[in-house]
Amino acid sequence: MAGASVKVAVRVRPFNSREIGKESKCIIQMSGNTTTIINPKQAKDNKSFNFDYSYWSHTTPEDSNYASQMKVYKDIGEEMLLHAFEGYNVCIFAYGQTGAGKSYTMMGKQDVKDQQGIIPLLCEDIFVKISDNTDNSMSYSVEVSYMEIYCERVRDLLNPKNKGNLRVREHPLMGPYVEDLSKLAVTSYNDIQDLMDSGNKARTVAATNMNETSSRSHAVFNIIFTQKRHDADTDNTSEKVSKISLVDLAGSERADSTGAKGTRLKEGANINKSLTTLGKVISALAEVNKKKKKVESFIPYRDSVLTWLLRENLGGNSRTAMVAALSPADINYDETLSTLRYADRAKQIRCNAVINEDPNNRLVRELKDEVSRLKDLLYAQGLGDIIETYRATGADIEGLKYVSDCKNNNNKDQAVNQRGDLSTVTNAMTGMSPSPSLSALSSRAGSITSLHDRIMFSPGSEEAIERLKVNTG
Ligand SMILES: Nc1ncnc2c1ncn2[C@@H]1O[C@H](COP(=O)(O)OP(=O)(O)O)[C@@H](O)[C@H]1O
Ligand SMILES: [Mg+2]
Repeated sequence: MAGASVKVAVRVRPFNSREIGKESKCIIQMSGNTTTIINPKQAKDNKSFNFDYSYWSHTTPEDSNYASQMKVYKDIGEEMLLHAFEGYNVCIFAYGQTGAGKSYTMMGKQDVKDQQGIIPLLCEDIFVKISDNTDNSMSYSVEVSYMEIYCERVRDLLNPKNKGNLRVREHPLMGPYVEDLSKLAVTSYNDIQDLMDSGNKARTVAATNMNETSSRSHAVFNIIFTQKRHDADTDNTSEKVSKISLVDLAGSERADSTGAKGTRLKEGANINKSLTTLGKVISALAEVNKKKKKVESFIPYRDSVLTWLLRENLGGNSRTAMVAALSPADINYDETLSTLRYADRAKQIRCNAVINEDPNNRLVRELKDEVSRLKDLLYAQGLGDIIETYRATGADIEGLKYVSDCKNNNNKDQAVNQRGDLSTVTNAMTGMSPSPSLSALSSRAGSITSLHDRIMFSPGSEEAIERLKVNTG
């Protein structure tokens, strides 16, 4: 589906001990998908925003309005995973002030029941869905990488020995990538879990006043998901590759509001370089969509490592979701309002996602499906002998010949032209559109006219044709 907008959710967490200590008041209200923030200095000054989802996680699971980790996963994670199975690239990123709940939403508490976040739940689900598959022609591979962007440097979290700074390069077709980043094949959720654990331990963590354990870096967890289908008839293997990027951003606050000093302050400036650029990119993309024209060159992706690596996910070939984490407390009013505004802008971005599949392979698959649907229809009408006759004369639905031609010739335009021909053949066969080129076809495919008559006048053919019309849309 092209032009889908970025899905945007916001989520508010419970008070933390610091906020309780300061006897903070909750300034966030949610009703349906609407989130309202109240200015603590001016109670009448309310601002409301609509999102795809507004998650109320300020209370406890006993509250019927409480949005659990599973709820968030089911809405956002599972939807994105299903898009990955369709062959789209997908991305989920968490934005917000340090301590607002980004890591809780993305990673959660791995060893506590019901507290796992989107990343572990999605990794678990991918293997559940793979094992649910009963189609023997399908095979899957899952590879993961995990990196940290810290002060505009990229570090490999799955290979902590690699202390150096990895280079970000650009592939002419695949776009920006990190050179020498480890990509490990995994065959079960346990494999991934071990990798996540060691990666999380390797993350650069520094204490700030806001949140003792919060990370000052951006963490990007990637899953490269490949689906292969082997077609025994044509001995053709088609492949769909989807990149799943799960991003836990560093805190969005200004360095000074956390009391960070010295090195911390410098870090803050660099962290904010990626985040400010992300903000600029989001604003620029939102503008592009407002004006409904493509001005690709004005989007400053290249200005930071983060936006350069997320380029496809932000404005390009990806289905993307953002979760903005909110503190409920009055003392964080300014930051929370700025997070809401940021999320509000992100809503306007549209991405043009396409299924990552070789176009010729897709064509072959579609044609095969079409041919087999038509064959079934003929058999159902008691006209299976037509297929047998055609096979015997070597004219087997012509289509398979086209299919192999398309495959061998690797020329998309020509393949598409040939598809036109095949539709004519199949349309003629079902009588869906008695084609003017019928006579031309008859010389090629033998007595197609009488075939057409037989189908048209065989008992029950009208219903069957109606059924076929419904099935083929
Ligand atoms: N929805 C939530 N429910 C319960 N606790 C939460 C929730 N969101 C965050 N927390 C807790 O708040 C603290 C800060 O959250 P964290 O995810 O580390 O923030 P961030 O990654 O944005 O800096 C953690 O102790 C976390 O467990
Ligand atoms: Mg965090």
